[in-house]
Amino acid sequence: MDITKLDQAVKLIRKAKYAVAFTGAGISVESGIPPFRGKHGLWNKVDPIFLEIEYFKNKPLQSWKIIKEIFYDKLNNIEPNIAHKVLAKMEERSFLETIITQNIDHLHQKAGSRYVYELHGTYKQLVCTECSSEFDISFANLDFLPPTCYICKGILKPDIVFFNEPIPAFAKKRSFEEAKKADLMLIIGTNAEVLPAADIPVVAKENGAKIIEINIKETHFTKEITDFYLQGKASEIMKEIGKKLYL
Ligand code: APR
Repeated sequence: MDITKLDQAVKLIRKAKYAVAFTGAGISVESGIPPFRGKHGLWNKVDPIFLEIEYFKNKPLQSWKIIKEIFYDKLNNIEPNIAHKVLAKMEERSFLETIITQNIDHLHQKAGSRYVYELHGTYKQLVCTECSSEFDISFANLDFLPPTCYICKGILKPDIVFFNEPIPAFAKKRSFEEAKKADLMLIIGTNAEVLPAADIPVVAKENGAKIIEINIKETHFTKEITDFYLQGKASEIMKEIGKKLYL
């Protein structure tokens, strides 16, 4: 880890008037959740078609079987790691305003962050494909798939954004607003490939924000928009940042 660059990044955080974090799957890897891409990526093992919206509508049972295995059987007993916790502490101490996340694992909230925009939805909620009623996952019994709506018996879908589905309008609107207000954006653990999410840090940059990027390897952001690239694991770097901010 490059200490000077880390010290410079911490100086930026201290000086920032409106810091926003933009996170991806990489921040949750050390909580035991595999990323989507790269050597250990989920999409190397599972065909993303199971999370394509038309496929889900035509074959809900096949889709649900995979969704249960890759998400619900894993996510219920995972905990936030130090990176999530430091971001929550940064919010508490007013070093950070909001988090915009592509993750559906609810770990930012579990770590104590209050201002979180979930661009790709959340696994914690199910929504009815017929009457749009919403249910917390704790009401569902996933031993019987596909789960059905308690009101209209319609098929329930995880409240996550499937491929070829639009992202939630409110989260999208607020995220771009936050990006425009930010004078500092911390980008943590994203491959920066999926749109429109990957446009958000670009909007922040275009509006004058300084960009700190934390990732184990470079992304196209690194050359295009990043001012400080801190190479390393999110938990290791965020732990150091937390120490230097006396969190
Ligand atoms: N610390 C920091 N970064 C890490 C770590 C780690 N321990 N492990 C992996 N990374 C980085 C990888 O180098 C990669 O750049 O995290 C990124 C993970 O990339 P993806 O798996 O593509 O995840 P993400 O960018 O969040 O994907 C965006 O794609 O499939 C969709 O909806 C899905 O929200 C997801 C979206």
